[in-house]
Amino acid sequence: MTYLPTVPRTTAGPLFADTGLKLGVFGLNVTSAGAVTASPERHEIDWDQNVRLVQLAEEAGFEAAIPFSRWRGFEGRTDPWGRSFDPYTWAAALAALTSRITLFATSHCLTVSPVMAAKQIATIDAISGGRVGLNVVAGWFAKELRMFGVEALDHEARYGYSEEWLQVVLRLWEGGEDFDFHGQWLTVENGVSRPGPVQRPHPPIMNAAFSARGHQLAARYADLSFVSALDAASAGRKVREIREVAAGFGREQSVWIAASVVCAETDREARALVERWSETDLDDVAVRNAIEWTMGGARMPQEQHRQLTKAVASTMAGYPLVGTPARIAEQLAELHAAGIDGVALTWMNYEAGIPRFIDEVLPILEREGVRRPVAAASAR
Ligand SMILES: Cc1cc2nc3c(=O)[nH]c(=O)nc-3n(C[C@H](O)[C@H](O)[C@H](O)COP(=O)(O)O)c2cc1C
Repeated sequence: MTYLPTVPRTTAGPLFADTGLKLGVFGLNVTSAGAVTASPERHEIDWDQNVRLVQLAEEAGFEAAIPFSRWRGFEGRTDPWGRSFDPYTWAAALAALTSRITLFATSHCLTVSPVMAAKQIATIDAISGGRVGLNVVAGWFAKELRMFGVEALDHEARYGYSEEWLQVVLRLWEGGEDFDFHGQWLTVENGVSRPGPVQRPHPPIMNAAFSARGHQLAARYADLSFVSALDAASAGRKVREIREVAAGFGREQSVWIAASVVCAETDREARALVERWSETDLDDVAVRNAIEWTMGGARMPQEQHRQLTKAVASTMAGYPLVGTPARIAEQLAELHAAGIDGVALTWMNYEAGIPRFIDEVLPILEREGVRRPVAAASAR
């Protein structure tokens, strides 16, 4: 069975509105999400803080809040990513406490039944009045997946599984008669999920794969996909590539990038923060584990490993937005000009970083026409 979705036509969220470069708060629900460092200022989660910062971002016009789905951390002294809030219950509660922003929930396909996911997303869609999105993750963290007894699947098989998983979710959201699904991995008998989601034909689907196989899945099913790059020119090339693959399936999509903000009074001070978090404040065991478990670090040349250590410790290897507010705004403008539709932003310290971004970077983006001010955007 093949099911080819289209871009959602009805959504109450601002994800596809004509607001310019879209902004998402990314990873707020996980400790040390944006920088794997032992810095005493590293991000620590608490619920009231998560609510306050998502509401602040919403008020400033951010289009999305995107949680990580995480089940264990990178160990070492500080166990970065080791404490986290579950993305579904997180999104459901925030749905009731916000009114405009799109809230994503994230599913590791291997860890949750598609019947459960379809029902939960439809429920959060009802709570939010049509503002939920689903981030679909194939999984990469073997030690984490072993907690669920699903370690045996290799990369290719995980994406095969995820494809069937998505087909079941989409079929459930479509509604109509009960259906049977017999795939290689999944079997559903008399599948049904009522009520369907508020958004039609379905809530937006995000997939943030970077591999060729992952991009095939994203191009075919996702409304939001991601590229990874270290400069605007290569981001632009990758955007064109994934758009071409999507066009092959007769689809269009919004293409985002994950980026990390390191903001200071001067570019030199911002670079010094990167040095401090990745040298003086290094949690070497945690960073080594992060590189090994996410990117097979043991096989890397020493120099590449050194560079990655710095990147993971300071920006979690996201697109580095390092410098003054003006420099950060300039880099965001370059990414947007290269074809990037949105950025999923992380910080070493969200509590300080989000208000500073809103006060000092956002006005420049709005003045330069990279984004529309929120009042103008919501008046549309
Ligand atoms: C914006 C974004 C969100 C992601 N969210 C998660 C997540 O919540 N949990 C997770 O295990 N992986 C997450 N990932 C990882 C990707 O889903 C994907 O597994 C990873 O980029 C490796 O890509 P590949 O499977 O194509 O090799 C995320 C990546 C990005 C850029």
